[in-house]
Amino acid sequence: MQSLIAPSILAADFANLQRDVEMVNSSKADWFHIDIMDGVFVPNISFGMPVLKAIAQHAKKTLDVHLMIVEPERYVKTFAELGSDILTVHYEACKHLKQTLNTIKAEGMKTGVAINPDTNIAVLEDFINDIDIVCLMSVHPGFGGQSFIESTYDKIKQLKALISKKKSAAKIEVDGGVNAVNAKNLISLGVDVLVAGSFVFKSEEPLLTIAGLKQITT
Ligand code: DX5
Ligand code: ZN
Repeated sequence: MQSLIAPSILAADFANLQRDVEMVNSSKADWFHIDIMDGVFVPNISFGMPVLKAIAQHAKKTLDVHLMIVEPERYVKTFAELGSDILTVHYEACKHLKQTLNTIKAEGMKTGVAINPDTNIAVLEDFINDIDIVCLMSVHPGFGGQSFIESTYDKIKQLKALISKKKSAAKIEVDGGVNAVNAKNLISLGVDVLVAGSFVFKSEEPLLTIAGLKQITT
């Protein structure tokens, strides 16, 4: 099995954003992973709608938008209009998750739910059949370049068990601290999508780094 690769634009060179977007277009990557942070849900502010709009004008692959913002339901329609294909909200940030997922679907996007490293998989039990992609955070959200939290492996196993128990079609995405070493383990555990920011953009040859991740199979 091979996984989809989603380079995280948070680690791109914002002064050369078009260049970095074109690099991903011409690479073996599958998706663009786009982190939106509000400085409230997480202790950092990344970028917002105008930057996403600029990315969307050049990006030729699936836009996987990861909202690290409080009350994300306020902006579902806006992110649909900006061209998001997948809209991921945090379980911890939603008052009425089911309703928010319905709105995301109604706006024609795939539904994503992210959970923080300290959030138990069990909270997804009632929602797993409404989720297209579960984003397991393997770092505390807010910053790129952090180290992968090893307990993520156990959570993947628990999530796999929940998905099969509920006969859900949800895909598993892992986000944070992904590199060539842990990617191998993640793929063998059945992770469908690997998000990689620093490992791709801070490498000398991002195209080769992406191709290398893409080549890892079980
Ligand atoms: C963290 C973000 C991640 C981040 C990953 O809050 O959600 O998507 O960009 O970056 P790396 O791969 O550098 O950990
Ligand atoms: Zn992310």
